[in-house]
Amino acid sequence: MDETFITLEYKDDTLWLIDQRLLPVSFEIFICKDFRDVEFAIRDMVVRGAPAIGAAAAYGVLLAAKEYASDYETDHGKFASRMEEACRFLNESRPTAVNLAWAIDRMKQTLSKEVWKDSADMLKVLKREADAIRSEDIAVNKRMAKIGVSVIPRGATILTHCNAGALATAGWGTALGVIKQAFYDGKDIFVYADETRPRFQGARLTAWELVQAGIPAKLIPDSAAATLIRDGKVDLVMLGGDRVAANGDVANKLGTFALSVICKEYGVPFYSVVPVSTIDFSIESGEQIPIEERDPKEVTHPGGVQVAPEGIEVYNPSFDVTPHQNITGIITELGIIRPPFNENIEKIRKGIALGN
Ligand code: MRU
Repeated sequence: MDETFITLEYKDDTLWLIDQRLLPVSFEIFICKDFRDVEFAIRDMVVRGAPAIGAAAAYGVLLAAKEYASDYETDHGKFASRMEEACRFLNESRPTAVNLAWAIDRMKQTLSKEVWKDSADMLKVLKREADAIRSEDIAVNKRMAKIGVSVIPRGATILTHCNAGALATAGWGTALGVIKQAFYDGKDIFVYADETRPRFQGARLTAWELVQAGIPAKLIPDSAAATLIRDGKVDLVMLGGDRVAANGDVANKLGTFALSVICKEYGVPFYSVVPVSTIDFSIESGEQIPIEERDPKEVTHPGGVQVAPEGIEVYNPSFDVTPHQNITGIITELGIIRPPFNENIEKIRKGIALGN
């Protein structure tokens, strides 16, 4: 799988998404005709992964502007309040990944510039911005791959969690993008992919991408990771991130924190790979990151099959926060952020490349 693989695309005034709920059993396209469809697609995880939901939401804002374009011609105030409402609606589809708010804000900023002649011109400018968010994401992922590959030794065995591949982004991937780069560079790597309960993004999506790319790999139950790490069978852990706080704490798929504790205990390097758009400079620590809790049915009925008795209560947080003390480095397109994380993240905020 390479850059020609298309996770999301705006075609015929609609947003086309690979329906990730159905992979790997079937490959189908989910077409969003309006911003409500986009909100549903994000909430129901037709599209998932922090950068991918950001790019999808950007097209959601475009679809809202298209729907309300006639108001723009007649009543600017009405158009503005309807757009505000649509953006809020899209933003509430999933709470943890900051890329969603980041992309919507970027679209809102473009909207507030009012640099166009009429509504048709406005839609053209918004389309250009959403396309830029999408194509910049692919370019940023490739840059991170080139930077991040330096931490992968020849012959390394890498463990990854959830799906931080092409499917989680507009294309190429974050953590899996770096791993792919190492493989294409001939580094003779091997990958362990956690299945990632309860939604099985590792089994359904990462394993699918690894098979497509021909990367030597084994799928493992989540609970096998600790033993593999203790027994020296993992050289490094590399995964994505949904929101990074200013102190370097990283929210990522549930199970990431546990992996970081095991890595710290056994001295195994632990890397998160995120674009700068995943850093939330406005929050000081991971304690302020909202953690999404999802439908109990994901746990009691994985894949629609009942595995728990009716009436049992369920706790189903979708993400957890890994403290920066457990992280070796955060790989971004501006370089690898290493301790002291707060100082180096401040440099990133100012756009200063870390030069590594
Ligand atoms: O619930 P998901 O599948 O959207 O969670 C995705 C993750 O946690 C990924 O690791 C993260 O978004 C990084 S993707 C490049």
